[in-house]
Amino acid sequence: MARKKIIAGNWKMNMTPSQAVELVNTLKPLVVNDEVDVVFCVPAIDIIPAMEAARGTNIQIGAENMYFEEKGAFTGEIAPGMLTEVGVKYVIIGHSERREYFAETDETVNRKVLKAFEHGITPIICCGESLTQREQGITIDWIRQQIKIAFLNVTAEQAASAVIAYEPIWAIGTGKVATTEQAQEVCKAIRDCIAEIYDEATAAAIRIQYGGSVSASSAPELFAQPDIDGGLVGGASLKPDFGAIVNYK
Ligand code: PGA
Repeated sequence: MARKKIIAGNWKMNMTPSQAVELVNTLKPLVVNDEVDVVFCVPAIDIIPAMEAARGTNIQIGAENMYFEEKGAFTGEIAPGMLTEVGVKYVIIGHSERREYFAETDETVNRKVLKAFEHGITPIICCGESLTQREQGITIDWIRQQIKIAFLNVTAEQAASAVIAYEPIWAIGTGKVATTEQAQEVCKAIRDCIAEIYDEATAAAIRIQYGGSVSASSAPELFAQPDIDGGLVGGASLKPDFGAIVNYK
């Protein structure tokens, strides 16, 4: 069965609640496309107003982060049950900015992934290499390690429903998009790694996005690659361009 493409916006730390409503209203008519899953991952405080604004459309509202405990003394964190109660079905886990600025590790990513599955939330699991790692020729080794740890104790059935976002760090927010060949090569290596951990059926089912300066002009070629099942989009998800990315064909 062909994998359904999934195109997700990552708003990062942008948009107040009223701005979020405005942006959803602007993008609503532009992102209509039943052939792809469309997700807006928004700041926690924007989730409820964005959901209300998106009601009745094909837009799913997701979260940008989640903690791996149920509740308790974890000041500033968001629990999985808080997300599910309002209907969140997707959460970004282990974005490179969270790894860099908030000390997330492959191990905490794994705990969050397990917790998301426990609550029926689909994790969008991020991985990606730095420029130094690419120049040293260790990209694939590095990504395989990130994937193997992220999927520790995850069942094949859970893995089949997961989303992986391959985002080379050097391409995030820099306008320097990876070449189609570079993106496809790593996304294929990720799929091979999933086949190695699980089996071919799981590898064939899992959806792998490319992220890093995706734009309306780069999306069509990227998303046409055999192992690229959509994108995780930062900057361009805050603009009408996102409509063109969702309707890339
Ligand atoms: P970008 O961000 O599209 O602005 O490069 C992508 C991301 O960080 O998910």
